[in-house]
Amino acid sequence: MVNLGRLLSTLATSACVTASYLSTLPPVFQNSSSTWAWVSYSNPSVAVLPEPFNRSSLDAPLEGEISDVSIAKEWSFLNKTNFIAYDERFFQIIGPNTVIEHVEQLAYQTHEAPCYNKKTNQVFFTEWGPPGGVNGTHDWQYLYDVASGNLSKIQTHPPTLNAHGCVVYNDTLYVVTDGSGSKEIGTLVKIDPLTWKKEVILNNYFAQPFLGFNDLDIDSDGNYWLTDSKSAYGRGLIDFYYPTNPTVYFVNATTMRPRPVHITTGNANGVAVALNPHDSTRSRQKHTVYLPDTGVSEFLPVSKKNPFGNRGLFAHDASITGGVLSNPRLLNNPISYFYDGLRASRSGLLFAGAGDGVDVIHPADGLTLGTIRVGGGDNLAVGITFGKHELWIVGRGGLWKVSNIAERLDRDW
Ligand SMILES: *[C@@H]1O[C@H](CO)[C@@H](O)[C@H](O)[C@H]1NC(C)=O
Ligand SMILES: *[C@@H]1O[C@H](CO)[C@@H](O)[C@H](O)[C@H]1NC(C)=O
Ligand SMILES: *[C@@H]1O[C@H](CO)[C@@H](O)[C@H](O)[C@H]1NC(C)=O
Ligand SMILES: *[C@@H]1O[C@H](CO)[C@@H](O)[C@H](O)[C@H]1NC(C)=O
Ligand SMILES: *[C@@H]1O[C@H](CO)[C@@H](O)[C@H](O)[C@H]1NC(C)=O
Ligand SMILES: *[C@@H]1O[C@H](CO)[C@@H](O)[C@H](O)[C@H]1NC(C)=O
Ligand SMILES: *[C@@H]1O[C@H](CO)[C@@H](O)[C@H](O)[C@H]1NC(C)=O
Repeated sequence: MVNLGRLLSTLATSACVTASYLSTLPPVFQNSSSTWAWVSYSNPSVAVLPEPFNRSSLDAPLEGEISDVSIAKEWSFLNKTNFIAYDERFFQIIGPNTVIEHVEQLAYQTHEAPCYNKKTNQVFFTEWGPPGGVNGTHDWQYLYDVASGNLSKIQTHPPTLNAHGCVVYNDTLYVVTDGSGSKEIGTLVKIDPLTWKKEVILNNYFAQPFLGFNDLDIDSDGNYWLTDSKSAYGRGLIDFYYPTNPTVYFVNATTMRPRPVHITTGNANGVAVALNPHDSTRSRQKHTVYLPDTGVSEFLPVSKKNPFGNRGLFAHDASITGGVLSNPRLLNNPISYFYDGLRASRSGLLFAGAGDGVDVIHPADGLTLGTIRVGGGDNLAVGITFGKHELWIVGRGGLWKVSNIAERLDRDW
């Protein structure tokens, strides 16, 4: 266990004694089996850099350019780390015993829809889009068995085409799909993780086809929040032009009626719904809905990352009935790249796939507390799923397991 008193007194003094870019780690983190770094704005070497320096908003801070040789050396050390703290709270959340393992090295292409099922101790996830599959289309999913370390390919009955997002709820996998164009429209489906039987529970908005679902979350009342995005069209998985702008739908699980709650000319992607921490009285159950926009990632006519596209993470209040969103506020704009998969932990912390790693964001002050890195280079963090004190990350390059995290992450709803 971390001695919090000692930890905090060390944190309070260490920023003042350092002259280097990186602040001195608390002793227990110096001794960690993982490699840590601490970048703190209370260190004047971080607040004021010697010019010239530069960085693109799409690149991680460690990929910035600087002429100062000693700082450049510290930035290249950042590329060898597993964890970068930007805030002292990150040390307490993650703790010194955490390790990250690249458990499955898979193709350098997108992996999505991770779902850790604690009943079966298995992680369900997908390979998504081109260059894999048949012209990008996948009718199978991956299943990683934690106890045996066995990775297999599974197929549901009938097959699930282009699964893109997943949540385990009530011992069932709830999955959204892009469908496959004229063959099948994007759907919300239920999958039994024991028999792999699939049941479609929603496939239209008053006969209007969905664009291709990207992700979902399920709130504490069991209602669905679905993000319908233009990514499937952009990556050639569906052959019809999308009929409307990317839309977030609230679906009342009692009536199964979908209702648009948010529309963007950027792109809808991740979604996380948490009980409002300021309203813990279960009788009111007001939710906060977190939506990152990913308009920054453009597909057609040219596939590119446009730094002038939207990438802000907004928080919204959801009304008690109907899921009407109000009071949107910019919670955070990613330090770099854009937020893909987004999940809210048991305590309401936000974990987002953010390119170089998974960013942990505080829901109240919006600060990025730190990054859980996936090794740099071509590796890219996309989606996350929580175990109790574990976190699973999927993305370009495969599957990562982060174990022995100090704070409990999984929610009971
Ligand atoms: C460092 O780690 C070793 C071995 O894990 C342990 O015996 C020692 O107590 C640790 N020291 C500190 C300061 O945590
Ligand atoms: C920073 O780099 C970008 C290219 O990535 C360039 O367009 C811009 O002019 C540079 N800014 C400075 C201040 O050097
Ligand atoms: C894959 O795409 C190519 C080019 O659009 C097309 O000719 C081919 O028929 C497609 N294959 C399948 C199996 O859909
Ligand atoms: C691993 O999966 C394969 C099928 O992909 C199966 O034949 C084998 O029995 C599994 N091994 C273990 C240890 O679960
Ligand atoms: C949970 O699953 C059980 C068994 O499949 C089912 O009877 C029940 O209706 C489900 N509850 C919800 C909220 O979906
Ligand atoms: C869902 O629909 C039912 C039946 O119309 C209604 O009683 C309930 O308030 C709705 N739930 C939400 C969260 O809107
Ligand atoms: C970071 O490390 C990876 C893995 O060794 C390497 O491929 C990549 O080029 C490095 N990135 C930078 C900016 O040095």
